[in-house]
Amino acid sequence: MYDGFRDTERDGWGARAGQYRNYTARVTTQAIPALLAAVQLRAGDAFLDVCAGPGYAAGAAQALCATATGIDFSPEMVRIAADSFPDCRFQQGDALGLDFPDNSFDAAVCAFGLLHTTDPVRAINEAYRVLRPGGRYGFSQWCAPAESDFFRFLMAPIARHADMSVADAAPDAFALSDRHQAEQVMAAAGFSQVVIREVPSVYHAAGGDMFDNIMALTVRAATIVQAQSDAVQQAIRDDVNAAALPYETGQGMIVPMPSFVVSGVKG
Ligand SMILES: C[S@@+](CC[C@H](N)C(=O)[O-])C[C@H]1O[C@@H](n2cnc3c(N)ncnc32)[C@H](O)[C@@H]1O
Repeated sequence: MYDGFRDTERDGWGARAGQYRNYTARVTTQAIPALLAAVQLRAGDAFLDVCAGPGYAAGAAQALCATATGIDFSPEMVRIAADSFPDCRFQQGDALGLDFPDNSFDAAVCAFGLLHTTDPVRAINEAYRVLRPGGRYGFSQWCAPAESDFFRFLMAPIARHADMSVADAAPDAFALSDRHQAEQVMAAAGFSQVVIREVPSVYHAAGGDMFDNIMALTVRAATIVQAQSDAVQQAIRDDVNAAALPYETGQGMIVPMPSFVVSGVKG
């Protein structure tokens, strides 16, 4: 199920891997301190970064004297992660079927990865399986458009202009943005001491217009937009850029893109 979505995500992130640090990482990295605090990272911990992308969470954990492993299903991401953080171990792998025995890690995170998988609940169950008893898990997730300027001015023009029949069938990216649902899913997986930490993350564009930034920093939205006619793409571009104007600071656009971290303890 959702095979088309899965392939589009893997290839889309692979195509963006080389530029990831100039776009997506400018906001995703802001949640790393909260994630590492949430999993109470300690020196010497065996740490797993699931959906690691270019490996920033693994690299941060390794810098804090953990032994970090990262997995991602994009070979391009794994290559860049391994080049960037040579002291960590990175391998290609699937969040829905982790290639590790039960009880392997003291702490695990999934930073903005669950919403890109075809089955976030299964990914949480897999993380639970590979943690040792007492092991800690945390994931980060974007706040939904109703709470997020960034997603509001991205989603509204798409809803207004785009033919959504071109979109791959996919799970709701914001299902776990409902804090209550996130807590329930964690408890159902077996995690106790479930805690939510809000992260006031912002997207601070390095340059270019907001439409071009969004095409570079997203996969799902960009794929939908790029499948539209030239006229529809132009209409979306105009609306996104008009909505972004008030966020121009003179030092680039700074747009609230809040997120939060959910954590729990195995057993
Ligand atoms: C938005 S990026 C997040 C990367 C990084 N964790 C960060 O916070 O910047 C999502 C990543 O999840 C990976 N991904 C999506 N589905 C996956 C799956 N089923 N198994 C492994 N990786 C997956 C993608 O290849 C991509 O690198």
